[in-house]
Amino acid sequence: LRIDWDMMRAEKDGYDHYMLKEIAEQPRAYRDTMLGRIDGDSHGIVLPELQLAPEQIRQIQHIHMVACGTAYHAALVGKAVIERLTRIPVEIDVASEYRYRQPIIREHTLVIAVSQSGETADTLAAMREAKLSGAHILAITNVVGSSVAREADDVLFTWAGPEIAVASTKAYTSQLIVIYMLALYLSQCLNTLDAVTRTEMLAMMERLPVQIEEMLEDTRRVQRIAGELAECGNLFFIGRGLDYMVALEASLKLKEISYIHSEAYPAGELKHGSLALIEEGTPVIALATQEALLEKTISNIKEVKARGAYVIGVALEGNMDMAKTADEVIYVPRTHPLLTPAVSVIPLQLLAYYAALARGNDVDKPRNLAKSVTVE
Ligand code: G6P
Repeated sequence: LRIDWDMMRAEKDGYDHYMLKEIAEQPRAYRDTMLGRIDGDSHGIVLPELQLAPEQIRQIQHIHMVACGTAYHAALVGKAVIERLTRIPVEIDVASEYRYRQPIIREHTLVIAVSQSGETADTLAAMREAKLSGAHILAITNVVGSSVAREADDVLFTWAGPEIAVASTKAYTSQLIVIYMLALYLSQCLNTLDAVTRTEMLAMMERLPVQIEEMLEDTRRVQRIAGELAECGNLFFIGRGLDYMVALEASLKLKEISYIHSEAYPAGELKHGSLALIEEGTPVIALATQEALLEKTISNIKEVKARGAYVIGVALEGNMDMAKTADEVIYVPRTHPLLTPAVSVIPLQLLAYYAALARGNDVDKPRNLAKSVTVE
């Protein structure tokens, strides 16, 4: 028995759980995902594995993205970033809904399927449906040789390494990195982004691993907040723009492993109904890394505080407005506004981890869930 325990800890590199190990591996995963794909000379992205030729890219009229669970949340960031950088309209669907709405797929529609495992039945079914209509299918997956990788016309691997914990962490963030690189690559082919912004974004992407390493050096504040939240039965995440998309992922992470009920709302939407659920002491985690939207988010924070909410802000280092408004602030390093999901999600993964731990849950194998769901 003792030997088994030691072996398991060895597999986990001394971490108590795979999830914590995988959270800690994110700087390495970011580096591996970017490796060989950023060309320092041309200050551009190179994706030699892509079959899709620049001429074909210039003909793309629409993009559809399909995915499930955490991968869907990465795709949500993808929609926002691809539209921003390329001006190509992107539709996004939860894979299990895609084919039942009879999506309009034309000759020049690119379909992007995102799946960590590459075996999710819903995602495969959506891909097959799109393929029947003649779309070019580009898969973003972590598993070489998976069904999604084999059936797609094109594959971009995320190179996050094996992910064992059911709750996805490094697979999600490396999906974000691939999506950023894809969006930048498309914008290069389409000439929709100026070279200065591209160079700036690439430089900031390359800094992410070190920034995350620094952030992971001291996680005591997140641990303390997680311990306090572990007792609550219900909480909200709010955010605007990309912060909302990260809020959805953070909320899912918390539900998956801590079993605390939580909901994510666009910060401006809470007042249109769900504000009724805020009572004295209800925790609200407010993400505000999108500084262009900060003023509006702060006013939404004041709305919930006026109803008694206990607000935990997630803000960029040095942001004093949040310090004045929220009860607690978790600071994340500054980066390009489009890249903030790749930093802001990390303390929220840890928050879910430590809340689940405090509640005595099986962090790596949460109840009712499977790592890969092969039924529709
Ligand atoms: C399962 C997992 C989720 C995951 C989803 C999609 O439900 O429990 O963590 O996000 O499948 O998985 P995929 O492998 O397609 O990314």
